[in-house]
Amino acid sequence: MPDTQRTRLLIARKVPAAVAKRAETEFHAYVTDADMDAWSVVEFCTKHALPAVLIGKKSGLQAEHIAALPPTLKIVANASAGVDHMDVAAAHARGIVVTNAPDALTECTADFTMLLVLAACRRASEYERIMRAGWGKSFGMTDMLGTRVNGKTLGIVGFGRIGRAVARRAQGFGMRVIYTDIQRAAPALENGATYYESLDAMLPHCQVLTLHVPGGGAPLMTAREFGRLPQGAIFVNAARGGLVDEDALYAALTSGQLRGAGLDVYRGEPNVDPRFATLDNVFLTPHMASATVETRDQMGFTALDNVAAVLDGASALNPV
Ligand code: DGY
Repeated sequence: MPDTQRTRLLIARKVPAAVAKRAETEFHAYVTDADMDAWSVVEFCTKHALPAVLIGKKSGLQAEHIAALPPTLKIVANASAGVDHMDVAAAHARGIVVTNAPDALTECTADFTMLLVLAACRRASEYERIMRAGWGKSFGMTDMLGTRVNGKTLGIVGFGRIGRAVARRAQGFGMRVIYTDIQRAAPALENGATYYESLDAMLPHCQVLTLHVPGGGAPLMTAREFGRLPQGAIFVNAARGGLVDEDALYAALTSGQLRGAGLDVYRGEPNVDPRFATLDNVFLTPHMASATVETRDQMGFTALDNVAAVLDGASALNPV
């Protein structure tokens, strides 16, 4: 660990090689090769009186960790958009800046959301399993039919960067886009999408529903909300598993209330409720919506840009 106070930085999660290289070039950085846990982060930052740390889910700092951080610490940078793995309020109370990487993953997360929409509507999981089992039986005109995406109404919950990027893609697939958020977007951002003042009011109109709001708090989708969707709707979640009551989701998928679902996020990550794996009508992925080489590099670079700004005495670029 070099001794220049201003530019010392702990990278406490394993980052792509390009990010590690940049960190080592531009900072006096300690770059871990395996994700550190929160107490190891506290210990390391204390031992070296560090001003900055880049953390991830495994090193999610809670109130007790933040209370134990050294007074030298100025910034906790995250390479993710979501910061629900840490206690932001506790960091703010100590005057520590928290940053995230909101723009870096917009396009890839929106692409992946469409992958989930298409896969759930077009039975991708079932088709793929048939092929892996050797196929061997032609399908007739009425067999194994999915549901058409073109012409369907997509309801978007949360019309921020990712929600709007999903809207643009969905419009390209000929979907009608409706959305709900705390407030209506400006017409230029709305881009033809129709606003609903509440989730409750929007749900009955959604043939496909996708979530793009931050995690934390009580689940947004419970038996009541699934029950307000039209029968046979498709549900997609690439936001956070905690937004959904998974018992209610399972019940809706098995009762026929939902035709299918595309899921990238789960309450018990990195585990998935094993009941979902028994269902033909769900397409499951392991929280990979942002997982491209380009986006993961950009997420890491954004965290480094924030650290550089704060350690230079400027405002954070992406304060949370
Ligand atoms: C994010 O950045 O929030 C993605 O979900 C990856 O965790």
